[in-house]
Amino acid sequence: MQNKKKAGKTSRRSFLGQALTVAGTAIAAPSLVNQATAAKDTVQGSEGEMNVTLKINGEQKTLNIEPRVTLLDTLRDRLGLEGSKKGCDHGQCGACTVLIDGQRVYSCLTLAVMQEGREIVTIEGLAKGDTLHPVQAAFIDNDGFQCGYCTPGQICASVALLDEVKRGCASSITPDLTTPPQLADLSEAEIKERLSGNLCRCSAYNGIVAAVQQAAGQKPPSPAANVMVSEPKETPV
Ligand code: FES
Ligand code: FES
Repeated sequence: MQNKKKAGKTSRRSFLGQALTVAGTAIAAPSLVNQATAAKDTVQGSEGEMNVTLKINGEQKTLNIEPRVTLLDTLRDRLGLEGSKKGCDHGQCGACTVLIDGQRVYSCLTLAVMQEGREIVTIEGLAKGDTLHPVQAAFIDNDGFQCGYCTPGQICASVALLDEVKRGCASSITPDLTTPPQLADLSEAEIKERLSGNLCRCSAYNGIVAAVQQAAGQKPPSPAANVMVSEPKETPV
């Protein structure tokens, strides 16, 4: 009877030992599972890569990438073109805007493998040597930026905007679709509407609109005109 009791009884020491062993397994298990999953992912990732040739700023770039990689990540992480910025990564801010076949595109919303055979231009490809693109120069002339984070996207979008106007594209606020505005009479409201997909957290919008006006061949308002200085009136003694 005593032996029976002894056989069924677990000592405090052996119980703790068993408990620790089980706990150890439980703790180790997730990390083992994670390692196994990571290894599996790596294998699947390299197996699933595609060989792609992209034409970026006039140069052919050949690389192996997974089909799920965005153009923005490819530009920044694989090709070292970090001018295009990642703001939201969700198609909401425009910081990643680039030109594809002349059209403005959010590079965070398009896959790199889809762009084979197309002409991609990023902010790095706009200047001709030391000569800035007229839109880049206009942004500098009109203080179209503060921190500069949104600026590459704003400039690429503005380049496309001007081309859209030249091609006679209307916007959602164009009053008469049969006579869309020309560059010379593109209103401030039209510019704001057409750039509404590009946000600036520094709120440099006045300078951005003025820059587009200058690049459109209009006379932008003098930055000094926005500064309202009033001299205190002298009070007669
Ligand atoms: S990062 Fe692409 S739209 Fe914001
Ligand atoms: S200049 Fe800072 S976000 Fe636009």
